[in-house]
Amino acid sequence: MTEQALRVNQGLWDEWTLIHERSAFYDLEGFRQGGVRVQPYEIEEVGDVAGRDLLHLQCHFGIDTLSWARLGARVTGADFSAQAIELATRLAADLGLGARFVRSDLYGLPDALEGEFDVVYTSRGVLGWLPDISRWAQVVSHFLKPGGTFYITEIHPVVQAFENEGVAAGELRLQYPYWEHEQPLAFDVVGSYADRSAQLQTPTEYTWNHGLGEILTALIDAGLRIESVREFPGWTGSWTSWSVMRMGSGAYRLRSPVSCRCSSRSSP
Ligand SMILES: C[S@@+](CC[C@H](N)C(=O)[O-])C[C@H]1O[C@@H](n2cnc3c(N)ncnc32)[C@H](O)[C@@H]1O
Repeated sequence: MTEQALRVNQGLWDEWTLIHERSAFYDLEGFRQGGVRVQPYEIEEVGDVAGRDLLHLQCHFGIDTLSWARLGARVTGADFSAQAIELATRLAADLGLGARFVRSDLYGLPDALEGEFDVVYTSRGVLGWLPDISRWAQVVSHFLKPGGTFYITEIHPVVQAFENEGVAAGELRLQYPYWEHEQPLAFDVVGSYADRSAQLQTPTEYTWNHGLGEILTALIDAGLRIESVREFPGWTGSWTSWSVMRMGSGAYRLRSPVSCRCSSRSSP
């Protein structure tokens, strides 16, 4: 079931990439004009990346990866969507930004990519697509140089346990597992988070939840030292389509991110 679910998700992400390329949400034309799409808090928490080798896991079509390139990093992005990697590669060439993009499933990446990195980065909407958080953490650790930094900013795992569709603003309906589960959750695909009206051929998406303790323990077990874990009170970025989180003041409660910075334990 897991392999089949991952295959379906891969096809869905290929479809979504074509939609996202044209979406106002990603504003690709704006990005082509210049600027950096990673958030100021990420830049502050990751630190200066100039001249550092950075690996972006689940990079989608690369505009965050290329933002790090604009900040001076030597970047590599990896994702399992062929459409995403094709678009990322084309975008980097169009913009004259040095970047390498690799198509691979997250768990197969150690067989598809050589080398170690000063920074391993991943963000916003990544862990829910992965069935096994311990194996994910081992992949992170595999690519980290001794003394290197791993940074993740992600939807808070608590949020994933609540129903997001068909609920009123402020209504909290506990619906889904908080801890990791073997069978994927199956959801009807309704457009994409970037364009709810988009028509798609893939009818179902499959996701997995993981608790915050499971995520942090997986990283520790994989040999990382946790330096900071920040839970933010509200989401100030552009992800505003989920009804349950709207609180009326422009802030989106519960739709909160969490960020974690780790270093490789074998740091000098
Ligand atoms: C929500 S996007 C990441 C968002 C990114 N921060 C952005 O806004 O562009 C999630 C990415 O994970 C990728 N993905 C999902 N499951 C994967 C897997 N098993 N292996 C590798 N990539 C995967 C998808 O193709 C997609 O590009």
